[in-house]
Amino acid sequence: MVAQRQEIMARELSLEIARVTEVAALASARWWGKGDKNAADGAAVAAMRAMFDSVNVTGTVVIGEGEMDEAPMLYIGEKVGKGTSEFEVDIAVDPLEGTNLVAKGMTGAITTLAIAPKGCLLHAPDMYMDKIAAGPKCRGKIHLDRPVMENVRAVGRALGKDVWDVTVVVLDRPRHQKIIDALRQGGARIKLITDGDVSPAVATGIDGSGIDMMIGVGGAPEGVLAAAALRSLGGEFMGRLWPENEEERDRASQMLGGDPERLLTLEDLVRTEDVIFSASGVTDGELLKGVRFYGDFATTHTIVMRGETGTVRFVETRHRLDRKPEQIRQILEPLSR
Ligand code: FBP
Repeated sequence: MVAQRQEIMARELSLEIARVTEVAALASARWWGKGDKNAADGAAVAAMRAMFDSVNVTGTVVIGEGEMDEAPMLYIGEKVGKGTSEFEVDIAVDPLEGTNLVAKGMTGAITTLAIAPKGCLLHAPDMYMDKIAAGPKCRGKIHLDRPVMENVRAVGRALGKDVWDVTVVVLDRPRHQKIIDALRQGGARIKLITDGDVSPAVATGIDGSGIDMMIGVGGAPEGVLAAAALRSLGGEFMGRLWPENEEERDRASQMLGGDPERLLTLEDLVRTEDVIFSASGVTDGELLKGVRFYGDFATTHTIVMRGETGTVRFVETRHRLDRKPEQIRQILEPLSR
């Protein structure tokens, strides 16, 4: 009976979680092109936090906006959800993934979160992670510790493509110059991005996205989120925390236990298939359309998936802005005047 109730709740939770990323997208999209990345992020955080209060879970943020003293909301360890449910969950969250992209009105910004039963998502500080991602056909065929072109060749073989046609996404950062040089020498197609590595990592698992592999160092919360999506999609993901100093190494060691720089497989990052991932587009991207405002209503585009069933939904929603709950309207309103 309890198991059956939890199953129904888990199913219903997909839509609840989608509503949370949708409202965060609406709030941050108000700051589209306004040159203020902190305001865009703040709006997403406030909207997400407010919407979470109506979700029937007892949740803990295990990886998110930083530690309590550096993030006012959705910090690591924060309790979210109605709190009355016996359904205890872990939450990984990046309220606005691509704050600069929104500030500059550039493509690829999303709002995203993942949810899984307590103890199933990696609990780690908000620091860097080295990562590699590819779709379901590449499961078990790539490895973070192999030379990048070896991985590209493996992806090519798995997808039946010439190396020349394998598209690899890399964040355009000086720390990735060796990877970029190796990819160019090896003949792979490179898509350099300025920000936002969750979306392309997830896109590797979606047919027709045009992205075959994502590699390089980015945020750890982004890594856990991408892993949650790829666990649902049956894809491949590996990561390794990338501390920049002793303090970060100590903090990572406290949270993870053991060697904080050990290899983290998909199963280490997301310890269950019973995971739900949702992302909503803020600005247009490969995977999702951005928010559109039409006066008194707006539209959002969301991908929501459940690992247990492998169902992937693309949801287009029309929102009547004047009929949102009061608390949400307040977050959306100041800019609408
Ligand atoms: P934000 O959510 O802070 O906007 O992060 C954007 C992002 O580009 C991530 O996608 C990526 O993982 C990380 O920042 C890379 O960090 P850095 O800009 O320090 O190289």
